[in-house]
Amino acid sequence: MDTTVIAHLALLASAFLFVSGIKQLSSPATARSGNARAALAMLVAVVVTVLQNEILSWPIVAASVVAGALAGSFLARTIKMTAMPQLVAVFNGFGGGASAAVAGAEFLRVAGGGATLPAAEGATIVLGTLIGAVTLSGSFIAYGKLQGIVTGNPVVFPLQKTANAILFLGILVAGAALTVGDPTPEMYFALAGAALVLGVLLVIPIGGADMPVVVSLLNSYSGLAAAATGFALGNMILIIAGALVGASGLILTQIMCKAMNRSLANVAFGAFGAEGPKAKLKTGERPVRDVDAEQAAMILAYASSVAVVPGYGLAVAQAQHELKKVCDMLQERGVTVRFGIHPVAGRMPGHMNVLLAEADVSYDQLLDLDEINPEFGSTDVVLVVGANDVVNPAARDPDSVIAGMPILDVDRARSVIVMKRSLSAGFAGIDNDLFYMDNTMMFFGDAKQAMSDLVREVREA
Ligand code: TAP
Repeated sequence: MDTTVIAHLALLASAFLFVSGIKQLSSPATARSGNARAALAMLVAVVVTVLQNEILSWPIVAASVVAGALAGSFLARTIKMTAMPQLVAVFNGFGGGASAAVAGAEFLRVAGGGATLPAAEGATIVLGTLIGAVTLSGSFIAYGKLQGIVTGNPVVFPLQKTANAILFLGILVAGAALTVGDPTPEMYFALAGAALVLGVLLVIPIGGADMPVVVSLLNSYSGLAAAATGFALGNMILIIAGALVGASGLILTQIMCKAMNRSLANVAFGAFGAEGPKAKLKTGERPVRDVDAEQAAMILAYASSVAVVPGYGLAVAQAQHELKKVCDMLQERGVTVRFGIHPVAGRMPGHMNVLLAEADVSYDQLLDLDEINPEFGSTDVVLVVGANDVVNPAARDPDSVIAGMPILDVDRARSVIVMKRSLSAGFAGIDNDLFYMDNTMMFFGDAKQAMSDLVREVREA
């Protein structure tokens, strides 16, 4: 068979693997295999592309592959679960940067020698550069905010939006001049530089706690940049892979905004989500009922159904393995145990699913918001572990800052045990009426320590 036909068939297989891999990522049960499929698809795409083209230096290709693989596997193995959003931010940044660099190389190859750039190719090069450079600098600011290197507070200044709009318009005009005029490398580099500045300006006014939404949006941008560069190079598989990343990133961003009941415009321009000191809570004014490990163990051990609601505090304390031990012991005693997973529990999409999967919790015990909410009314005990906003009944109050946010209706269960260190607020910075309800008991402590105590007490119950 002709080698071109073989190459096209291989790329078709790669496209199929990308699409089916992404489909598999939609369920925790198949996500690992989806990831492996997509990685295989990328390998096929890279090998075919490399073999189809004239390679200037094999040693440079080999050295880049080895260096990238080593750095990637080292990071993937050593990163802490709570630092995953930072890692994704860096990955997106490099993805956008790579697309911009490839678009730049294509520009210099065609127009560097003084030749005119065909308008369609010029437009895709400009788009690839613009979106890629915004993704690169924006992602590194997002990384800095998540890592605490850049302030987590929104950085705002007068006429900020006007300045951003003027810069954006300037970039569009420069892009149009590059596409239809007489392009020079200087014009190209000025455009790329301005796009890098725009990336910084777009992300600094957004609060650190909103960074996961920004990271997901930048993920989508990195896909769009790759697709634009794919058009510039005439590389079909890059267009397909880029479009898939672009679309799925956008869907994820939308899911996150919906689960927080915020619009994307509010996240991008609302200067919300500062990670500074939380609003002062008038804690201690209302009485709460508290329990110790022994009492909590008794209540859980003698229940017939228990629903566990994990939140950000579980991730911070890394208490998932102890939690699993408690659940196993309860199940051995005949208690039905299920988990209620809120889409934005934690600080990144799928945070709780990944944590619980790490502790080998079975996927069919994990119920999402719509599945578990009707069940709370007939549940004996809900154990809330380090979660706060996602179980705050204030969301039902139209005047609350979290009004309309879909919540887990744990207050409808017969009893609720809330495990956290204090009555402090969560991400949204507001008090939680759940803590003061008659059917709620507070189990104060760091989730890891409190959960270890619970393991001991349930064993003895
Ligand atoms: P939060 O509302 O942030 O509450 C977490 C609670 O965990 C805190 O109130 C804290 O109380 C407790 N905690 C912290 N460290 C702990 C430890 N070591 N041991 C025990 N408890 C600990 O978390 P949530 O309920 O998971 O809600 C997530 C919030 O993040 C939502 O408002 C959501 O909109 C926002 N958000 C999520 C995402 C995604 S995609 N997941 C993205 C952006 C924003 P104490 O200090 O009293 O212990």
